[in-house]
Amino acid sequence: MTSHPSILHYNEQGQGTPLILLHGFPFDHALWDEQARALSDHYRVITPDFRGFGSSPIFEGTYHMETAARDILALMDSLNIPKAGIFGHSMGGYVALALWQLAPERISALGLVCTHAWADTQEVRQGREKTADQVFNGGAKVLVESLMPRLFAPDIDTAEPFLEVTRQMILSAKAIGIVGALRGMASRPDLSATLPQITVPTAIIAGDKDQIVPLNRAEAMAGAIPNAVLITIENSGHMPMFEQPQATALAIRHFLGESLPNPRN
Ligand code: MLT
Repeated sequence: MTSHPSILHYNEQGQGTPLILLHGFPFDHALWDEQARALSDHYRVITPDFRGFGSSPIFEGTYHMETAARDILALMDSLNIPKAGIFGHSMGGYVALALWQLAPERISALGLVCTHAWADTQEVRQGREKTADQVFNGGAKVLVESLMPRLFAPDIDTAEPFLEVTRQMILSAKAIGIVGALRGMASRPDLSATLPQITVPTAIIAGDKDQIVPLNRAEAMAGAIPNAVLITIENSGHMPMFEQPQATALAIRHFLGESLPNPRN
């Protein structure tokens, strides 16, 4: 058990086997709203905000993925959850993998959504540092310009209402949180060597048109984890929860139905 009390804001709905859905950067728990609602008919679904994001407290400094994973463990302790299905989108997936490293016995099934296990290249690290400086001086709007064109499938219908939702979510992120997470992602270790040791049922969920984590990375992840299934969400970029909300919820439901015993199923 971890020693520090939970600091994280979270939403909780439903009953049954616990399922924790971790958001990507620079978003908050609302990223998972549709899937959380859909899955709460059979699962106890918990959607936290990472430190520095949403309604969770903000701290100065670097948000290491391991620190974020410890925050999730503390939340699990405070909710009396010994073990949960952990799904992480992008940065949330980096945290899910850090959590696996720290406490594999707390994970009953793993979902890695548009994410991967490799460390940043030097070039990506430098890019993150530059973005951190720009956000520090100019706020979250700097990220809107750099992220929006890459988040979705290139042929996205520009009238999609979730584009504005995404823009607003980015704009509402706090500069200190963004900077902390950028530095944390830049300093994360390469966890690819641990993939063959992941023994729980694992879903690798990928957008076929993801411009940030290309499909071949998802394929490599699925190939390296013994018990993994690769689920490709068609017509989706890096944001399948928004771009294909029902297909994403169905993919998770189907995977969990096959892999997690649930007395309410
Ligand atoms: C995310 O969606 O969480 C980020 O794009 C991940 C990253 O920048 O590596």
